[in-house]
Order: sequence, then C-alpha cells, then structure tokens
Amino acid sequence: MSDTLSLEERRAALEQIAQEIRACQACPLHSARTRVVPGAGRPDAEILFIGEAPGYHEDQQGLPFVGASGKYLGELLAMIGLTRNDVFITNVVKCRPPGNRDPLPTEIDTCVKTYLNRQIEIIRPKIIVTLGRFSMALFFPPTARITKVHGQPRRADGRIYYPVFHPAAVLRNMNLRPAMEADFRRMLDLLKEVEATSNNTHDEPPPKQLSLF
Ligand code: URA
Repeated sequence: MSDTLSLEERRAALEQIAQEIRACQACPLHSARTRVVPGAGRPDAEILFIGEAPGYHEDQQGLPFVGASGKYLGELLAMIGLTRNDVFITNVVKCRPPGNRDPLPTEIDTCVKTYLNRQIEIIRPKIIVTLGRFSMALFFPPTARITKVHGQPRRADGRIYYPVFHPAAVLRNMNLRPAMEADFRRMLDLLKEVEATSNNTHDEPPPKQLSLF
C-alpha cells in the first residue's frame, strides 16, 4: 500500500495517526499522561527504532528519547554517521506509564494494534531495530532473551528485525557498551544486505505482530 505513497502522503498519514493518539483513551495510560509521544523522524525512514515507553522527559516534551537514554541513542547514531532525522523513532506504547512502571500486556496489545502496526505499514522500514525487551518481544519468540539474541538479525517480510539492548540498560551497566556499539556498527551493512536482497521471497514466515497475547 504505502509503496505507492509519496513522502508527503506518508507524512500526512503519520500525522493522522498522531492526532488519533492525542485523542486516545483506549487504555488506562491516557489518564496520567502529560503529552502523548507518537514518534518522530523521517516518514520514509529505512531504519525504524522502537523503544519501550515514554519516560518523564518524553512525557513533558511529546518527543521520543529526549532524556539521558535519548542522548546516548543520539551518540550511537552519530557513531554510524546518522542523525535522528535520518531514521524514525517511536515506542511500543505512546503514553508514559505512571512512575515509569512496565507497560501492561493489555496496554501493549492495544497500542501496538491501534497505532504501531499502522506506523510500520506507512513507513515500511527496511530494518526494525528493537530497543530492549518489550519491543523485542513483538517480533521474537517469547523464549528469546536479549542478552543472547542482541545483534542477531532476523530476516522476514523482506526486512530485518534487529534486536539491541535498551540504551537505558547500557547506561546502567557500562559493561554492555562494547556490545551495543558493535551492534550499531553492523546496522548499515544490514541495510545494504536488505537492499541487495529486496526481491528475495525466501523469507521466514511473517511474525505474529497482530496477535501478541
Ligand atoms: N525510553 C524509551 O523506551 N522510550 C523513550 O522514548 C524514552 C526512554
């Protein structure tokens, strides 16, 4: 569908979703939020980053990854020659869970089905980078452990799903930094790989994005 959408049409379609999110009361997270955080970046980004949920600063500003983990994410992007404007960054859920608690399965399910899946459909990224375990769990089997599978690309749907640690986890445990940087350094090669094989139809079966629970 969005293969035929122009950049402006994609921008408009994403803005339409953002407006729906601003009015959303589909789960309990709406009642404690200051601002919704739909996501930001290029409407036709080749790389889509999916974090967990907005934190305090994101909730204040309405933008994803603007706190300490966002600063680190910006550094990682700069390390591979990218800026936020080259990619799209969003989260599994678009409203801050009170006190930064984990989002609940029903909140995740509602938000992914109503918004994230449509954002993916419009952006059509070549690589989906999952930041942390909540986002990883959307595209990888429940048995997958981030400490084991980070940096291991999964090829399906003509794209690559690429799990990496959450930047906040790396900031809490600096021992993870070399692995995180190595995983980021590989990203542009993976992008070239998808571009080279974009007509390849021998993919794994599609992931169960739509029926998580
Ligand atoms: N952590 C996340 O997962 N997302 C944000 O937007 C900020 C911090």
